[in-house]
Amino acid sequence: MRQVKTLGLLGTGVIGGGWAARALHFGVDVIAADVKPEMEEWIRGAVSNAEGALARLTLAPLPRKGRLSFTTDLNAMAAQVDFIQENIPENLELKQRVLAGVSRHAPADVLMASSTSGLMPTDLQRDMQFPERFLVAHPFNPVYLLPLVELVGGRQTSADALAAAGRFFTYIGMHALKVRREVPGHLTDRLQEAIWREILHMVNEDVASTGELDDSIIYGPGLRWAAMGTNLIYHLAGGESGMRHMLRQFGPALKWPWTKLEAPELTEALIDKMVAGTQEQAAGRSIRELERLRDGYLVAIQQVLKQFNIGAGATLRALEERLYADAGAGARADIAISLERDAALQAPLRLLEVDVRPEWIDYNGHMTDSRYLQVFGDATDALLRYAGVDEAYRKSGRALFTAESHVCHEAEAAALEPLYVTSRVLEVDEKRVRLFHSLHRRRDERLVATAEQLYLHVSAGEVTPMDAGVRERLTRVQVAQAQQPVPRKSGRVRMRPSP
Ligand SMILES: NC(=O)c1ccc[n+]([C@@H]2O[C@H](COP(=O)([O-])OP(=O)(O)OC[C@H]3O[C@@H](n4cnc5c(N)ncnc54)[C@H](O)[C@@H]3O)[C@@H](O)[C@H]2O)c1
Repeated sequence: MRQVKTLGLLGTGVIGGGWAARALHFGVDVIAADVKPEMEEWIRGAVSNAEGALARLTLAPLPRKGRLSFTTDLNAMAAQVDFIQENIPENLELKQRVLAGVSRHAPADVLMASSTSGLMPTDLQRDMQFPERFLVAHPFNPVYLLPLVELVGGRQTSADALAAAGRFFTYIGMHALKVRREVPGHLTDRLQEAIWREILHMVNEDVASTGELDDSIIYGPGLRWAAMGTNLIYHLAGGESGMRHMLRQFGPALKWPWTKLEAPELTEALIDKMVAGTQEQAAGRSIRELERLRDGYLVAIQQVLKQFNIGAGATLRALEERLYADAGAGARADIAISLERDAALQAPLRLLEVDVRPEWIDYNGHMTDSRYLQVFGDATDALLRYAGVDEAYRKSGRALFTAESHVCHEAEAAALEPLYVTSRVLEVDEKRVRLFHSLHRRRDERLVATAEQLYLHVSAGEVTPMDAGVRERLTRVQVAQAQQPVPRKSGRVRMRPSP
């Protein structure tokens, strides 16, 4: 299976737009294909709407954004991409026909997946060429913020296709949940639909309004569900004997039953009640406004869950670790090659390449202060990873703590400006390291800012000696750079006598 550099989208509505935003953000090019030419403007708008929230999801260094192009020629798209995600309307015959047609233009090693909410992969792959490379990959709206994607194989799907698709979705920050066997509605929609059916019954029978039913979730179970599902939560509710006690206590109620299972008839009166209820809840706010509100709290929740390394927060943490490792890997190789070539480094080490993202711009139209620290921090991270301070090192309870930073601003950086950072190790002892970074504009080599930083090695809240290997590698860089002139702006941060 191929490495996915270009994602092809078949159908560019709500879900296609969400896939595009997510893939582009994590550096994958996208060719979007739709039968309606007017969808080009729509998908570009959808991607730009998603950017604000996506940009706040993580501060980890991101690869350069992917490029988006659009075509109404589905077959031309199929011939140019590494992975095809289908998102056309939920209609079995239509999907079968389009997937079969497009599969004849996509090379055999191009995976094809459907976003279908509930159709079975065995049915969808029936008329395809190379059906073994097909699977269902069911995402959730908004695709650019919710990490869940259900992966379902059909009778002809190969295990390799499922595994490769899982790797791709993980790469773009998702949690790939493999569904053991195909069932209509997969896992999540089967559960969601059960709740929705009960809602329809209760609105139909005037038991409650749509708003009251939403309140019954958002003030209670909804808060629990963000990190623990129904089963683990019920296990906790059963006291010391957990789930066993819960089933004994509430088992009889399951038989009564409280729920109805069969959906009520969708009469015009019921539809009107559902529409009127949700309009009252929206209280005059547009869909766009509500989407911004939803996106804002979805980002915040994931960041909170990251602190607990649970659920979607664990996915975000793993994604960030991968992004830092990728940014560090290039730098690590460059440092190793430079040191091998020349024990006395004449040129500064170029550790980080970065473009100024539009969301980093302040009201003056230039990169805002806090982003300078972020970029310098990423350069430090790359250098320290070279020295051996990586996730495993931090997991052992040891880290380098930023004791002081001194930033000098020399010139401005505008949106999309390509920049790079060069770095010096000025001093190292057993517990401390003093670094000096210079940020340059790529177009004219102009120095934009410098940062001098002092780091203390800590473990369990104490300043402690660093690992001998880490110190040795940092010292090697320091000695190799010793012949270079002392940076003009250095000396504002000093290493006092050892603590
Ligand atoms: N909306 C959701 O919340 C959601 C969530 C998960 C999965 N899904 C699934 O994703 C799929 C798409 O749903 P959506 O909500 O994005 O629908 P949508 O109506 O917003 O978009 C469908 C797009 O497909 C295009 N299209 C129609 N026929 C086509 C063809 N023959 N070739 C190429 N493009 C064609 C349409 O022009 C439209 O742009 C469905 O299978 C749906 O079940 C939807």
